[in-house]
Amino acid sequence: MIGYGEQILDHYRRPRNEGSLPAPDIWHEDVNPLCGDRVRIEIQLGAGERVAAARFRSDGCILCQGASSILTERITGLTLGAIEALPAADFLGSLQADLKPNRVQCVLLPLDVLRAGIATYRRGVSP
Ligand code: FES
Repeated sequence: MIGYGEQILDHYRRPRNEGSLPAPDIWHEDVNPLCGDRVRIEIQLGAGERVAAARFRSDGCILCQGASSILTERITGLTLGAIEALPAADFLGSLQADLKPNRVQCVLLPLDVLRAGIATYRRGVSP
C-alpha cells in the first residue's frame, strides 16, 4: 500500500534539528527541479570530520521536510566518509515509506543537498 509511513509523518509533525547553526562548516541549499521546493542543510564538524551538529530548513512537502529531519538525526555522529558511502537506496529503505515513483525525489532531495555540500567542502570552497 502506498503511504508516507509513520516515521516521516512523525518527523514532519515534530521536526528535529530544524533551524540554523551559528557557524556551520558545511552548508548547501538546492531545489527539487520538479516542484521548486527548497532544502538547506548545515553541518558543524567535530574531530575526525564527524558531524557534531546538523540543521535543516525546508519549504518542501511533508515527505521532503520529514526526510530532512530524519537525515539530520541519522548523520549526527557519522564521519563525512560514512555519509559519502551511504547508498541512497539504504536511506530510502530506512524511511519505511511506500512511495509513488514521482515522490521519491522528495525524500532524496535532502541527501542530494547534503552530498553537494560535502563535495563543495572537499573542494575547499566552503569555509
Ligand atoms: Fe516538492 Fe515534494 S513536492 S519536494
